[in-house]
Parts: sequence; structure tokens; C-alpha cells
Amino acid sequence: MKRRALIAGNWKMHTSVIDGCDLATKVAKSAVGADDRDVLLAPPFTIISEVGHVLRGSSVLLAGQNVCWEAQGAFTGEISPVMLTDIGAIGAIIGHSERRQIFGESDEMINKRVVGALDHDLMVILCIGETLEEREQERTFAVIKQQLSAGLSGVTREQTSRLVIAYEPVWAIGTGKTASKEQAQEAHAYIRSLVSELFEKEVAEQMRILYGGSVKPANVDELMAQPDIDGALVGGAALDAESFGRIINFK
Ligand code: PGA
Repeated sequence: MKRRALIAGNWKMHTSVIDGCDLATKVAKSAVGADDRDVLLAPPFTIISEVGHVLRGSSVLLAGQNVCWEAQGAFTGEISPVMLTDIGAIGAIIGHSERRQIFGESDEMINKRVVGALDHDLMVILCIGETLEEREQERTFAVIKQQLSAGLSGVTREQTSRLVIAYEPVWAIGTGKTASKEQAQEAHAYIRSLVSELFEKEVAEQMRILYGGSVKPANVDELMAQPDIDGALVGGAALDAESFGRIINFK
């Protein structure tokens, strides 16, 4: 079954208003004609509204880098699903390894974010992946299983149509080390089998599973050629218009 590819750029804590708008303009141009795939940008919250203006009229989708589970209230420092919808974002990245590792977000908190976002009709990109230590201890599959089943607790079958999984081995993020296409494919196939167990086969067949971790123009084509890799979540290379343009137009 052919799933529609998704190339997502995670700008993390980078870009000013001027730089971000300039980058978004270039990304929108690169996405012209790439009609058989989705392109998404997740800028920092400070410029998400401006970037949204730049992207208006283009095919490029807008998302937050995180989202709270509540619609509003006393949650200092958080952004709600309603706020994201208000400025034209259609989804959010949740559970990025930097949120888990640096900011101590637990599977339980990540699950609250996933359920809250889906309940507010957002699209969710749920990130999962093992550390180097976990891989060396041969715990990769156990970690994937734990993060996926905990992260998706309470998600309904109907909501899975707005769910995307991103497999991001922590040791490959921002390090220049990419998982080999075989390592990535193996993990993706395993994730798909888990989605089938958690929901059903049809859900697993439709679920988009992105690879993330040092995706570059030089490796995107071979990664995207793998049967269970349906897209990429790109950090560093998404900050360079030319590189990201090439990634969007993977062959
Ligand atoms: P990277 O980041 O492409 O810089 O490795 C990927 C990510 O963290 O989503």
C-alpha cells in the first residue's frame, strides 16, 4: 500500500522573524510541484504566526514543536491546541527526544499531550526512539514498544488517521550519524507491527512512520526507498533552504 510521504522540518530553537520568514518563503517555493507528498514546518512558537502568514496560499503545512493537553488555563510556558488552531497550525510534534531527555517529559505526560491534541482535532507526530546505551544493551525494541504503547494509550482507532509516528534514534539526532537504511527499516517494520497489535492491520498499513536523525540530501533517497519509511523529520538540514528543498524533492 502506498502511503503519502511527509517531509517535516523541525526548526527547534533556531531562527529570527526575518530568517524564519525568508526560509519559509524558500521552502514554499521548493514545495511547488511536489504534489504527491506533504511538507510541514514546525518553527519556534515566537514566529509560528508570521511563518503561517508566509505559508498562506502554499501547500506547506504548519505545526507546533509541542502542545499542551488543555485548551486554556494556568499552564505557564505552554501553548494549547486551540492556540495552534487559531494561528493556522494543523498539528504538533510531541515527545521529541529533547523534550524527554532535557526537559524530563515522561511517557505519561507525552500521552496526555497526544490525547489532548487529538481530542482537539490536531495532527500528531509522536516521536519515539532509543538512546545509544539502550541500543548497545539490545533494548531498542523494548524501548520502542514502551514509548509507543504508553504514548498511544487511550487513542481511538478513529483518531489514528491524524497520527504520524516518527522513529528517531537518539544517537542519530544532530550527530551526523544516520541509522543505516537497514537499521531504520527494521525499526519501522517493528513499529508497524506494534501499531497493528495496538489497533488493527488496516490502521498499521495506513500509518505514516517517519525517520528522523541526521537526514540529509545525501541519504534521503535511500531512506525513502525503504518499504516502511514514509517520510522524514528533519532538524539541522531543515534550516538550510537548499538542503531541505532537495529533501522535499527526494527521488
Ligand atoms: P537532525 O534532527 O536532523 O538535526 O538530526 C532531527 C530531529 O531532532 O528531529
